[in-house]
Amino acid sequence: MEADWDEIADWYTALVRGGSAMHQFSRDILLNALPDRMIGLDVLDVGCGEGIVSRALAAAGARVVGIDPTRTLITHAEAAEAAHPAGVTYRVDDGTTLHTVADDSVDGVTAALSLNNIADLDAALRSFRRVLRPNGFLSFTVPHPCFDAPGAETISTSSGMRRAAGDYFAEGLWRSAHPHSVRRAGNYHRTISAYLTAVMDHGFALRGCGEPAPGDAVRAEVPHRLGLPPFLLVSAVLA
Ligand SMILES: C[S@@+](CC[C@H](N)C(=O)[O-])C[C@H]1O[C@@H](n2cnc3c(N)ncnc32)[C@H](O)[C@@H]1O
Repeated sequence: MEADWDEIADWYTALVRGGSAMHQFSRDILLNALPDRMIGLDVLDVGCGEGIVSRALAAAGARVVGIDPTRTLITHAEAAEAAHPAGVTYRVDDGTTLHTVADDSVDGVTAALSLNNIADLDAALRSFRRVLRPNGFLSFTVPHPCFDAPGAETISTSSGMRRAAGDYFAEGLWRSAHPHSVRRAGNYHRTISAYLTAVMDHGFALRGCGEPAPGDAVRAEVPHRLGLPPFLLVSAVLA
């Protein structure tokens, strides 16, 4: 039977809270791409999961709402908030509709590793545009599309374990068969140009695009990613 996010929610929470270097790296590169001064800004963290990025946004001074459609993850996020209050509000909601979020109500939207879990990118971007105030920002990360396309795998070569590229042009849903891959819950692959074009088509002006190089902690955790950027980072503002 195919896994979904509810089924892997406990596993994912344990992975992130167990100190996953990849998730800390993903959080840190996203935070680094945000405006220098976050104090008092209303930020919506879309696909917040158990709350790793929401908590960091709050620590930077933002007023944060984290939304996610996976009830179990929101329960984990709320439990962490109850145990160590960071000032984050969590709600079950879907990034493609944002029913719980009013028009023109946030200064920024973050989406860490969540847009690749959303089938309808246009609907998500339309919702982001609706809830953002004028000049609001959007910053998101996705697994780097060049190295996490359908069929991408880690193979043994004469120079060690290496990442083999998959079918880059095969956009759409795919699932990893690996029992410890997040992508066993499904992943919507898109090319880099598909992401950037969609962002611009929905009225955002691109402000930055990054492929940050991992540090020692990530390289130690996932040595087969040696020399590769694990994530694509995109920053834009509502034009
Ligand atoms: C890889 S996790 C990332 C979670 C968190 N941002 C982090 O960095 O750990 C992907 C998240 O996307 C969420 N997701 C799936 N479908 C979604 C949707 N339609 N709208 C918003 N989030 C969604 C999942 O529930 C999951 O929490």
